[in-house]
Amino acid sequence: MNKSFTSLNTNVIFVDNYNQLSQKISSYGSNFLFVVDENTSKMVRPLPEPNVILKSGENYKNFRSIVKILKQAADHHLSRETIFIAFGGGVVCDLTAFASSVFMRGAKLTLIPTTLLSMVDASLGGKTGFDFNDSKNLIGSFYPADEVIICPDTLISLSDQEFKNGLAEVLKHALLSKDDKLYLTLVNNKEKIFQRDIETLNELIYLSLQVKNDFISKDPKETKNIRQALNLGHTFGHALETHTHFSAWSHGEAVAWGVGRAIETGVKLGITTPEFAYGVNKLFRYFNFDFNYRLDRSEWQDYQIQLLKDKKRNNQLINFVLLKGQGDFVLQNVDFELIKDVVLKKALY
Ligand SMILES: NC(=O)c1ccc[n+]([C@@H]2O[C@H](COP(=O)([O-])OP(=O)(O)OC[C@H]3O[C@@H](n4cnc5c(N)ncnc54)[C@H](O)[C@@H]3O)[C@@H](O)[C@H]2O)c1
Repeated sequence: MNKSFTSLNTNVIFVDNYNQLSQKISSYGSNFLFVVDENTSKMVRPLPEPNVILKSGENYKNFRSIVKILKQAADHHLSRETIFIAFGGGVVCDLTAFASSVFMRGAKLTLIPTTLLSMVDASLGGKTGFDFNDSKNLIGSFYPADEVIICPDTLISLSDQEFKNGLAEVLKHALLSKDDKLYLTLVNNKEKIFQRDIETLNELIYLSLQVKNDFISKDPKETKNIRQALNLGHTFGHALETHTHFSAWSHGEAVAWGVGRAIETGVKLGITTPEFAYGVNKLFRYFNFDFNYRLDRSEWQDYQIQLLKDKKRNNQLINFVLLKGQGDFVLQNVDFELIKDVVLKKALY
């Protein structure tokens, strides 16, 4: 029996393999637009038509790619009943979802995420968008997909680095979960996870999505200070990514490091228990994340500038997600002296 559940009017369906996936795609008939990028276009043969092949990567998460999708939809005289199908990572999913949300004031939308990150995060929750004016996801809409199809078989071709990116979000979800299921699945199946055992990935993705669903269903448009919990580690991590010009740290590694900084901040403020912090440290190190890295003191000025660019900031104050313990978060403004303390190497004198 295939796993499935509903989240914000989205049907999430798990399929076992490529065969089942192509049967599912065939069941859509001919009224669709299939959106892929240069890499994921090679994963489906023959490529369903009509289709749009986008350039791959964050650099192409821009308005030109949106125009490319919309132009193809208009040229083929597609309608509001047309299903926009995204087959790709978070970039393809976010772009297709945005295009679908504005085409004839909203067409149908199916997401088939093909990276671990897009399966456990980008496909669910209705956030769509593209980068604009050097700001990530500056333009976007809330437009939950009608359907999300998860086919862990697609993960076999993913690079180790992209796989680790997604794993960081899974670990983050384990900390935010009210129960131990995801945490235990992680610690009991490390080898199988790295070997990309399909059954284990199936379970891991399903449990991870349950955690995300728990937050977004209570706060669909991020207006109630609940959904923000999913930003755990992201504020510290994103500033590290921009500070290092997106070269030294992958997104997942930066988020994992950010979780480490949030945990340490919580301990220093007496919010996080040292026992919990110890367990989190062990979990991230077990999955080979550099949890305790420190910046040189000379890097502070630029790191601080990057932090202040954070979208979640309110005037000069930045809201950080901190954890009291598993599944128990608080949003807290943190003093810059304390941030400095958890981010930088200790002074030698
Ligand atoms: N909407 C949301 O709620 C949400 C949440 C998290 C992240 N995001 C967005 O997701 C994006 C990042 O997504 P991503 O990490 O998937 O990046 P991505 O879409 O750029 O994919 C990473 C790389 O992997 C390739 N790829 C995809 N699937 C593959 C496969 N199965 N085998 C081999 N290669 C494959 C892609 O072509 C690309 O080169 C960011 O733009 C971020 O803003 C959105």
